[in-house]
Amino acid sequence: MPARLEIEGGVPLRGSVRVSAAKNAALPALAAALLTPEPVVLTNAPALADVRTMAKLLETLGGTVVHEGGELRARVPRVTNDLAPYELVSTMRASVLVLGPLVARHGSARVALPGGCAIGVRPIDQHLKGLARLGAEVTIENGYVIARASRLKGARIATDLVTVTGTENLMMAAALAEGTTVIENAACEPEVSDLAALLNRMGARIHGAGTARLEIQGVAELAGATHRIVADRIEAGTLIVAGAITRGDVTVTDLVPDHLASVLSKLEEIGVALEVGPTSVRVRGPERPRAADVTTSPFPGFPTDMQAQVMTLLGLADGQSRVTETIFENRFMHVAELARMGARIATDGSIAVIRGVPAYQGAPVMASDLRASAALVLAGLAAHGQTVVSRVYHLDRGYERLEAKLGALGARITRRP
Ligand code: EPU
Repeated sequence: MPARLEIEGGVPLRGSVRVSAAKNAALPALAAALLTPEPVVLTNAPALADVRTMAKLLETLGGTVVHEGGELRARVPRVTNDLAPYELVSTMRASVLVLGPLVARHGSARVALPGGCAIGVRPIDQHLKGLARLGAEVTIENGYVIARASRLKGARIATDLVTVTGTENLMMAAALAEGTTVIENAACEPEVSDLAALLNRMGARIHGAGTARLEIQGVAELAGATHRIVADRIEAGTLIVAGAITRGDVTVTDLVPDHLASVLSKLEEIGVALEVGPTSVRVRGPERPRAADVTTSPFPGFPTDMQAQVMTLLGLADGQSRVTETIFENRFMHVAELARMGARIATDGSIAVIRGVPAYQGAPVMASDLRASAALVLAGLAAHGQTVVSRVYHLDRGYERLEAKLGALGARITRRP
């Protein structure tokens, strides 16, 4: 039986907890190692299932990846294989991040089309259109994207929508292209800026990271580099909500508060007391949260990756809240499970209407995707009685030892094999 978490709810969390490095920055950073024969060293690599999957993918492409003492050392002396197999891509969509680097360095890539996942259809058409703009010949054959180019050429690319991994893929490809590339409508997420910082350290010339317009002057080759991955703003936000939902007093450290600005201001609106320091946030939970409306949008808007967790907090609010999910069409998988714990939430398409209840009751629930799993753990921490969250492997993809971190804050949470 896959691992599960048993939680005895109702303990106000207290103490201090450190945020790990961001999964969604570590994955593109590993993919960037494909752009150079020299080592790329990530000094604070998070120990996550998704990071292990990306390491495995690099190994199948000819690289070596060593994770030792919190340091991840990736090296791809030569690309020996250009195939990202369906077995890996279907377990982790971010595998598609090898597409741009493979074409740029090796001249060809065969990457399985990811297909849909629990939270939506998630096409990669923008990645492919952008690569074609850079001069790659892109076809789809038997479920695989086949891309080829002798040398990519800089171009002006305007994506039809804001895509995080799409921007990252194109930025990596353009870094080794001939001439200048401009990406308009680029994603502004901190993870995109973190990748740009790593690439620039490797010798790339990327300007405008963190804005919607990226300018990339291509270079002939890139070198190795050492890089410290940015803090995980979503893990940080999840831990802050854990403090709030248990009416605790928790200081979350080693984060970048600016990366969480929209989440922090929403939590204040909900009545959560926050003391924001330069790299920490102290949170004290209210007796009862206030109702509020939340709409997800690309950075710096409210992140879709925090939607489930904040909805769980709003489920206990005094009054009616409305959550609108604009990024993914099916990201309400947590709603039916929260209902098993007593939440009153009705969904209609992209809108969830939440009528707050005074308390959740512990119940057996099932995780469906990463952030939904985190939401169920939060509900369990607040609930009366025992909650058992099964299929914890979803959680392990993106949270480093979450139960250990929560346990150190006083939560009664146990992992059962
Ligand atoms: N989209 C397209 N065509 C494309 C690309 C995207 O239609 O070519 C659509 C998607 O279907 C979605 C929207 O555009 O509706 C935004 O998707 P985006 O490409 O930005 O998402 P992503 O890059 O696949 C990353 C994170 C997700 C996070 C989203 C949104 C990584 C590895 N993943 O995904 O993280 O939710 O951005 O911020 O960076 C998670 O960590 O739990 C997670 C799902």
